[in-house]
Order: sequence, then C-alpha cells, then structure tokens
Amino acid sequence: MERTHRPHQPHRPHRPHPGWGRQCLALLTIVIITVQAAHKSDAGSDISTTLLNHSSMLIQRLQELLQYGNSTDTTLRIRTTSSDEVKVIQAHQLLLNLQSDVFEGLLANKSVVTLQEPADCAILFEKFIRYFYCGEISIQLSQAIALHRLASKYHVPALQRGVTEYMKSHLASESSQGHVVSWYHYAVTMSDEILQESCLKFLAWNLSTVMSSSEWTTVSDNLMVSLVQRSDLVLQSELELFSAVEEWITKSNPNASIIERVLRSIRYPMILPNQLFQMQRQSGLLATYQSFIQDLLFQAFQFHSSSPLHFAKYFDVNCSMFIPRNYLSSSWGSQWIINNPARDDRSFSFQTALGPSNHDSSKKITWNALFSPRWLPISHRPIYSESVSSSSQSNRLEEGKPRLVVTSAMSGLDFAGVTFQKTVLVGVKRQLGKVFVKHVYSVHQSTDEVSDFLAHADLQKRTSEYLIDNSLHLHVIIKPIYHSLIKAK
Ligand SMILES: *[C@@H]1O[C@H](CO)[C@@H](O)[C@H](O)[C@H]1NC(C)=O
Ligand SMILES: *[C@@H]1O[C@H](CO)[C@@H](O)[C@H](O)[C@H]1NC(C)=O
Ligand SMILES: *[C@@H]1O[C@H](CO)[C@@H](O)[C@H](O)[C@H]1NC(C)=O
Ligand SMILES: *[C@@H]1O[C@H](CO)[C@@H](O)[C@H](O)[C@H]1NC(C)=O
Ligand SMILES: *[C@@H]1O[C@H](CO)[C@@H](O)[C@H](O)[C@H]1NC(C)=O
Ligand SMILES: *[C@@H]1O[C@H](CO)[C@@H](O)[C@H](O)[C@H]1NC(C)=O
Repeated sequence: MERTHRPHQPHRPHRPHPGWGRQCLALLTIVIITVQAAHKSDAGSDISTTLLNHSSMLIQRLQELLQYGNSTDTTLRIRTTSSDEVKVIQAHQLLLNLQSDVFEGLLANKSVVTLQEPADCAILFEKFIRYFYCGEISIQLSQAIALHRLASKYHVPALQRGVTEYMKSHLASESSQGHVVSWYHYAVTMSDEILQESCLKFLAWNLSTVMSSSEWTTVSDNLMVSLVQRSDLVLQSELELFSAVEEWITKSNPNASIIERVLRSIRYPMILPNQLFQMQRQSGLLATYQSFIQDLLFQAFQFHSSSPLHFAKYFDVNCSMFIPRNYLSSSWGSQWIINNPARDDRSFSFQTALGPSNHDSSKKITWNALFSPRWLPISHRPIYSESVSSSSQSNRLEEGKPRLVVTSAMSGLDFAGVTFQKTVLVGVKRQLGKVFVKHVYSVHQSTDEVSDFLAHADLQKRTSEYLIDNSLHLHVIIKPIYHSLIKAK
C-alpha cells in the first residue's frame, strides 16, 4: 500500500518506517493532498463557471410548505375586531422570525398565539404571511393602508418601505372613491412626514379634481385648515374654493372654531366685488357665520374700491390675504401647449388683468413668453469661428437646458410698488374638465432662477411623461404681489 502511494508524498522529509501508526498518518496526508489537487485543477482548466439557479423552485417548495402545512410548529389565530370570526393559519416559526422581530418575541415560548386585527387587516393576513415564504405580494389601492399597518405592527421594514413607495407613486392613480385623503390621514397617524408631504402636495396641486370628488367630504378638520392656508393651491378661482369649503362645512359639520379658521383663510380680495356681494346674499353658511369674516369682507370691498398701490398706503398688504393662489381662470394667465417642444425656440403672447382689484378691472397687460428647449448662458455658448469644429458646437447645444422667460410687452407702465411673480405649472392636462399638475415653478422673470426647470423631462423622447400627444402642457400664471410702503412716522 505504501509503495503505490509513494509518488504522492514529495514533501515528506523522511520515508516512514513500516508500522500501523505511520501508515495511517501517511494515508491521511495523501487524502488531503488529493483533495487540494482536485480543487486546483477545477479552477485552472475550467474558467467558465455555470450557475444552476433553482431559486424559483425553492420558493415554490417554501410556498407549498405553507399551503399544505407540512411540519408546521406555529398556530396563528387571527381574531377580527368586533366580530366572532377567527382565522387559523399554520406556519413555521423560523420563517416568521426571519423577517419580523415582533413575531420572534411573540413566539419565543409559545406555539399558539392569538392576534387581534381590524377587519381590513384580518382579510389580508394570509397574503401577509405568504410574503414571509416567498418575498412577494400583490397590492391594490384599497389595500395599501391595511398592508402598511400590518407591516408596521409586525415590524417588517422591507415591506413597510415597499408599501410607502407604492403609495407615493400611486397618488395619481384612478380610483372610484379617491384615496389620497385617506392616505394623508393615515400618514399623520403613522407620523410618516414624507408620505404626508407627498399627499399634501398632490391635493394642493390637483385641488379642483379633489374638490369635485367624493373624498372631499372625508377631509379632516386639520387637513382642511392646512390646505386653505397654502398659496400653491391650483384651482379655477378663489370663489371655487369658497364654494367647496362651504360644501365641506355643511357636510362634515366641524365646530365653530374650525369654521372660523377656515372661513378666515379664504382670500376675499381675490374675488370680484359683484361676486362677493352675490356670495353674501346667497350663501346659507354666511347667513349663519358672517360675523366671523365681517372685517375681512369690509376690507375686501375697500381693496376693490381703490388702486392697490393707494390701498397699500393705508393697509398692510404684506399678508397672505393679498397673495393670489394658482388660479387657472383666464384673467390670471394662460395655458400654453407647445407641440414637439424639443424642436426649436417658441414664443407666445397672452393678456392678463393688471391685478385683482376691481379698480383696475378694465386694465390689461400683454405678456410675451419665450420657450427654449436647449438654452445656454452666454458664457457657455459656442463661438462661431473656424477654430471650433461644428461637432463640438453641437455637443455644446446638447448641454443646454429648457428655459422659459416671461416679460411684459408694454413699456411706460409704472410698476412701482408691485412685482409680478410668474408661476409656471407643468403637465397641466384637462381631462373631462379635470386639471392635473406635475410641477409648479415660481420665478420673477426667467426659469434660470430655479435650477430644476424641466430637469428630468427628457423632451427629446417621445415617451417622456411630460409630453401629452407629443406636446408640453404649460400654464403660466401672473401674480401681482403688492409691497407695503414703509410708513413715515
Ligand atoms: C435565479 O433565478 C431567478 C428567477 O428564477 C432570478 O430572479 C434570480 O436573479 C436568479 N439568480 C441569479 C444569481 O441569477
Ligand atoms: C407536503 O405535504 C403534501 C401533502 O401531505 C405532500 O404532497 C408534499 O409532498 C409535502 N411537501 C413537502 C415539501 O414535504
Ligand atoms: C421564555 O422562557 C424563558 C425561560 O423559560 C424565560 O426566561 C423568558 O422570559 C420567557 N420569555 C417570554 C417572552 O415569555
Ligand atoms: C397631480 O395629478 C397628476 C396626474 O394625476 C400627477 O401626475 C401629479 O403628480 C399630481 N401632482 C402632485 C403634486 O402630486
Ligand atoms: C374643535 O375641533 C378641533 C379638532 O377638530 C379641536 O382641536 C378643538 O379643540 C375643537 N374646539 C372646540 C371649541 O371645541
Ligand atoms: C412681509 O412679511 C414677512 C413676514 O410676515 C417679512 O418677513 C417680510 O420682510 C415682509 N416684507 C415686507 C416687504 O414688508
């Protein structure tokens, strides 16, 4: 035996003497050397490694374990709140513990646990447990809150994050009831500020749609108070907001202090005096609560009876009451649909009222807008000389950014005491009279002032989500902002 293996022991310092112990030692050494050699030749001669991937089969097997209940060690009893219904699920502690430290704690010394769940969560519980076995779950708009609640309660962070992402990217999805208001309320209870902010922005920028949907009456007191204070609401007119608020108050019946706060957040100077008068006469709500806003209505009529600049000498106009929101009606601005926006520069003219005051109602301003799909600041522009090759010029042109400039077409108008803020809504799309907004940019004159104007729009691509029938939908709103004069003492 020793003889046959001798060639494989080149490193042994001495030839072993015959004897049992030494023979065993030699055998052991030989085996080890053989295995190492096999490894070497595997790596050396066969470089391309083939992966046999049976992970989907494994997941299939795991799901069968749950489905058939093979070798389960845990019984979950799901009791539906305020009902006798109890659902029993047989499961495997190892798989539950793997992703949830809450289950780990619950199952530490027990094999049967009873869990209390509200009906919407109880219905999803089997689906939720299946996620532990295959890492996959299907989700619908109406299930998002319940699923997020389960993921939070049992502390499954990956699922929790996944559902939050789902909610943020599905705010605009079509649903019969509307879902964003309920998602906002849920985000408040979970103190999820990012989701809360996304929902608020969605509601503010798509307010006309929300106000005409059935979810409007489900808006909570706190949400209504924070909505009506925002200057970035996108809607037809302030009067539209008043009517919607009146409907909300009538249907959801808040207490008097909430009614007062909400009514005092309406910007009455933005409503024309004939409409204010009609509102006062016809509104059942104001018949009861006019005393809450008497002073504001009086001030609004005063505002309309003089020029805003004259008015500013006597009253403080530096407050939200005199700041226009994003009104879509034609006296405030204009829609501008740019077909094939990546092609070349385009210009457009439109008229707005000089301001919201009735005193100026006959005065109009003409505005010129210029849109460039690839604009470069002067210092970056190619120099048209022979030394610069045309290819580097076109490279430079590709670097340009979309830009919109809005200037007054009139000279000789005295604008002291007022600046005209330009607000550009992007992605405004009218569908069945509904308005949808993707971005809101506010500038003095040019979108150079903001760094991200249409930054991710990819206007060259026909598939860009900013193009509706290959057109960019903009809506430019002009907002006069009045300045208080510094009062001489
Ligand atoms: C194995 O296959 C699954 C799909 O069956 C796939 O999702 C996974 O990425 C594959 N794994 C590797 C390492 O390629
Ligand atoms: C589980 O049990 C079912 C039925 O008792 C059986 O058909 C199946 O092969 C089992 N699966 C495993 C993975 O043991
Ligand atoms: C589980 O049992 C151990 C010992 O039997 C005990 O120390 C521990 O506190 C128990 N844990 C729970 C969660 O009941
Ligand atoms: C408003 O709605 C549109 C379409 O429904 C959506 O794309 C947009 O993101 C919404 N706005 C906000 C701020 O969420
Ligand atoms: C009115 O309702 C709000 C919550 O909606 C509450 O915070 C407030 O205390 C209530 N005020 C009165 C006077 O009841
Ligand atoms: C307007 O009011 C804000 C705070 O309410 C203040 O920061 C700002 O300086 C005021 N502007 C003018 C022009 O008075």
